[in-house]
Amino acid sequence: MVGNWKMHGRISDNATLLTEVAAGASALQKGVRVGVCVPCPYLAQSQALLSGSVVQWGIQDVSAHSGGAFTGEVAAEMAADFGVTYAIVGHSERRAYHRESPELVASKAQRAIEAGLTPIVCVGETLEERQAGTTEQIIGTQLDAVLAILTEEQAAGIVVAYEPVWAIGTGKTARPGQAQDVHAFLRHKLLEKGASVASVPLLYGGSVKPENAEELFGQKDIDGGLIGGASLKSKDFLAICRAAQTVTH
Ligand code: PGA
Repeated sequence: MVGNWKMHGRISDNATLLTEVAAGASALQKGVRVGVCVPCPYLAQSQALLSGSVVQWGIQDVSAHSGGAFTGEVAAEMAADFGVTYAIVGHSERRAYHRESPELVASKAQRAIEAGLTPIVCVGETLEERQAGTTEQIIGTQLDAVLAILTEEQAAGIVVAYEPVWAIGTGKTARPGQAQDVHAFLRHKLLEKGASVASVPLLYGGSVKPENAEELFGQKDIDGGLIGGASLKSKDFLAICRAAQTVTH
């Protein structure tokens, strides 16, 4: 279960949120892994407050380069200096607002792996793409670009998040069956890369809330969630984490 704080947080509020999440997560069953992806300036704070807890921390994007004249960019190696586990790459907000191509996202995933981080590769279609019947084509292209440049061993170490763009921050959630269909398609594509890749965790993201979490996580190929808005409230985020415990698949 991974929280994506997006561009939210202030140093004083974060302390409360991180401490509450760490305390709540310690009571979860061992099978439930919890992480929070925070804005870069708060990586040091996350490291200080979460080290020794069961909660891992991550970054929301990394550069496709490992260093050099790239003003404003952050290298995966820099994040690794702060004990980071996860790096979200290819979030739809970056694909849309920063024109990130499938190939650029793939390079970012590869840099993250080389720096010892676990990339959480986001894929998802817009409402227009879904209505045009091109969902599988769009997310297939997004995932293929990543799988094409990774070895089977590297690919087996990634996490994939399906986030329909029309469900992010809109309050609209994909119906559990709708999400499962896409997850089954993604699972099949991963299997094509190799048997070990088929067990990559597949997260669902897009308006996951305590009220809908259990039904979503109950789907066969939904292994967890990438949680935006609800990860900013420890009560909601922890309720979502607890919903994952009740699922047995
Ligand atoms: P949301 O965001 O839960 O606020 O819809 C999910 C995401 O964008 O990762």
